[in-house]
Amino acid sequence: MSITTAHDRVNSFVANPRRMFIGGQWTAAVSGKTFATPDPSTGETLAYVAEGDEADIDRAVQAARTAFEQGPWSRMTASDRGRLIWKIGDLILENAEELAQLETRDNGKPYAVALAADVPLAADLFHYMAGWATKIEGNTIDISVPYMPGANFHSYTLREPVGVVGQIIPWNFPLLMAAWKLGPALATGNCVILKPAEQTPLSALRLAELIAEAGFPDGVVNVVPGYGETAGARLAAHPGVDKVAFTGSTEVGRLIVQAAAGNLKKVSLELGGKSPNIVFEDAEPEAVAGAANAIFFNHGQCCVAGSRLFVHHSRFDEVVEGVAEIAKSIKLGPGMDADTQMGPLVSEEQLTRVTGYLDSGRTEGATTVVGGNRHGDRGYFVEPTVITNARNDMKIVREEIFGPVVVAEPFSDLDEIAAQANDTEYGLGAGIWTKDISKAHALAKKIRAGTVWINCYNVFDAALPFGGYKQSGWGREMGHEVLNNYTEVKAVTTQL
Ligand code: NAI
Ligand code: MG
Repeated sequence: MSITTAHDRVNSFVANPRRMFIGGQWTAAVSGKTFATPDPSTGETLAYVAEGDEADIDRAVQAARTAFEQGPWSRMTASDRGRLIWKIGDLILENAEELAQLETRDNGKPYAVALAADVPLAADLFHYMAGWATKIEGNTIDISVPYMPGANFHSYTLREPVGVVGQIIPWNFPLLMAAWKLGPALATGNCVILKPAEQTPLSALRLAELIAEAGFPDGVVNVVPGYGETAGARLAAHPGVDKVAFTGSTEVGRLIVQAAAGNLKKVSLELGGKSPNIVFEDAEPEAVAGAANAIFFNHGQCCVAGSRLFVHHSRFDEVVEGVAEIAKSIKLGPGMDADTQMGPLVSEEQLTRVTGYLDSGRTEGATTVVGGNRHGDRGYFVEPTVITNARNDMKIVREEIFGPVVVAEPFSDLDEIAAQANDTEYGLGAGIWTKDISKAHALAKKIRAGTVWINCYNVFDAALPFGGYKQSGWGREMGHEVLNNYTEVKAVTTQL
């Protein structure tokens, strides 16, 4: 598909209010309401979308339940299920330019990034998970049963789908988060209600079209756009939902846990971070670009952003100046402009939140080396920012900013840095830059985080488990680890 054809397709996709996808049908909200999703580079409305509410979630849960209990999905062979999931990956690649443009216009990220990263990673996730459909296995277990001497048994386990799964995703990687959630749920045979973020509902709705095109039975995947406080909250609390998977803020993660308590549905959470990125005295010069990428990629709107930069005191000035130079050179603009390197933040709310942190850093006495302000007066742009001279008790050091803002501080030795790196309520990611492999691996062991990158950052793969220690979450996404989140284990015993 040419870039212009993709452009025409996106224009026609956003021209009419988008409906929600329930039980294989495209429908308006029960209330008839729609909401606007803005183009963050201008603040103008990009599209109107059906506003899912409690009644729509209820319809979707019913459709998913019927598909799970009575539909062809539950009778399908694992091999056929895998083939369908593989097809989603293929269709994503066939429609790559269109999906990348949709993502860019709804979320704000540069088109080249959406095309090179978000879209192929989403396709690869489905391709990877397709293979797992035929590899979900139980065990045979030799049991002893001491209180039944002489008896013989045959025991085995079955790994079965959890059932009806609610999935609530954020706006920073809208298509990719949909893939991370849907891929493993489908590979293990569940039925899903996906609620995309209200800021970025469009690519998930286009993905639902592709899922229908792939030939999924009705009700296996339902996509209900809407707000968190209404549609999201109903999905998390719904008594007919067996499991909820959530990615987003730690604050809402707690609400999800409370809502799930009603029917004790299973919960997996991928929450915030305040990840340390550590540059040692013997780091290669690439550590400077690496540190900049760790925080500025996706405008800092990454749960795993390297937002606390620790640099050995002997290299501190050089690395901070280097990152500041890169920050100054980054070209901000609308994601669809070919020379744009950083787009706007996703929403006015995020603009207010991030500039609020910049103000609080200034008020509390930190030094802004570069950036520190909103960029322009149209759209939600923030300057890439480097801050030094912050204290550990400052909000900018403790809280997730979720913008292009890094706080740099010097350190002196290995023991000190492990303690500093772990001095956070989060535990999602960490970066280590050094030529000394023993030092790197020794520190990797000490860090309480789900991902550690050595001499690299932001390296993701469908085969690598991802998730958080501490308040960064429960469970892992991707890899074979995620399959545990979506299966129940049944032990079957026969007396012979
Ligand atoms: P959020 O946590 O409110 O939104 C994430 C998703 O949760 C959205 O789909 C939203 O509709 C839904 N949601 C919101 N309230 C809900 C509720 N009561 N019940 C069920 N679902 C609900 O995040 P928000 O407000 O967009 O961003 C605030 C902060 O959260 C960011 O500044 C950032 O620090 C963090 N965040 C972290 C993300 C991550 O990848 N870990 C992604 C997005 C935000
Ligand atoms: Mg919120």
